[in-house]
Amino acid sequence: MKSVACGEDGGGLEAKTSCGHILTSRESNEGLFRNQIERDKLFEITKRFLAFAATFSLSFGNIIMNKLGLMQPNFFKVTHSYPSSIISCIHNAPPHGAAEVSRITSLVNESTTSRVLKDVHLSTQLLDGFLDLAEDNTSKDLETCGVLGAFLKEGTYYVTTLIIPKQDSTSSTCQAVNEEEIFAIQNEQSLFPVGWIHTHPSQSCFMSSVDLHTQYSYQVMVPEAVAIVMAPTDTSRSYGYFRLSDPDGMKIVRECQETGFHTHSEPLNGASIYEDCSNIYLNPNLRLEIFDLRH
Ligand SMILES: *[C@@H]1O[C@H](CO)[C@@H](O)[C@H](O)[C@H]1NC(C)=O
Ligand SMILES: *[C@@H]1O[C@H](CO)[C@@H](O)[C@H](O)[C@H]1NC(C)=O
Repeated sequence: MKSVACGEDGGGLEAKTSCGHILTSRESNEGLFRNQIERDKLFEITKRFLAFAATFSLSFGNIIMNKLGLMQPNFFKVTHSYPSSIISCIHNAPPHGAAEVSRITSLVNESTTSRVLKDVHLSTQLLDGFLDLAEDNTSKDLETCGVLGAFLKEGTYYVTTLIIPKQDSTSSTCQAVNEEEIFAIQNEQSLFPVGWIHTHPSQSCFMSSVDLHTQYSYQVMVPEAVAIVMAPTDTSRSYGYFRLSDPDGMKIVRECQETGFHTHSEPLNGASIYEDCSNIYLNPNLRLEIFDLRH
């Protein structure tokens, strides 16, 4: 098993505790049939573990962590051999999980559509974790993008996975390449693509016309999909949670044939084409796993 501490001592232990058996069996190579069975088994174990870790704040790993007196932040780097050799970092929920879940308050009135949407819980580690991983290219004025994977439990989406794909970016665009790698992880872990996150390294916090088209492709699959924009140089607003208004914004983008940067007409009824999300919660008890496919 390959597992390396990612910043903190004791990482190997944590990785072993949370998913060591998974990695070991994944890396064994004793024939396709056996692998398939093991994979199915793992898949079940992984799913159950994710559900367990997200629902209950005390995972077994954390109990051990706590006994050893290890400190946050506890991100651990793990190398997988399937679906591709990639690095993932795992952040476990805090030991006591007493921290409160907080709702992102919308700046706009809740529309009727927003009220029927399922809630989406994000790990409090997500935004900062992503900014850290984007930092190199942010300083070169290049965007970075990532995909949010969630599982659905009792009508709520829990984002447990951040996938950072191989990508081509400029100061105002970011395009994933080898998207099949993203789908492989989502399929393997039964995750819903509940949105995406990207940086605006030098621009303000808003949704460009190209961003709106990207968001459309997520929102058409999952109505709750969120576009998180991180704009570290925007002094008035450094991040935002956005979605296309539904049905108005969705209709305008669906009917728009243009590519590249262009202008969209605003909905005739005075609504805006996109809005702040009102169904997002920051959950400090959620586990977060980061798959970084860029290397
Ligand atoms: C929100 O809705 C209420 C009632 O419809 C209205 O009085 C209020 O002005 C709205 N607030 C904003 C910020 O649009
Ligand atoms: C930085 O951006 C370039 C150009 O899009 C990309 O190829 C590279 O993978 C990025 N590097 C990191 C560390 O994100």
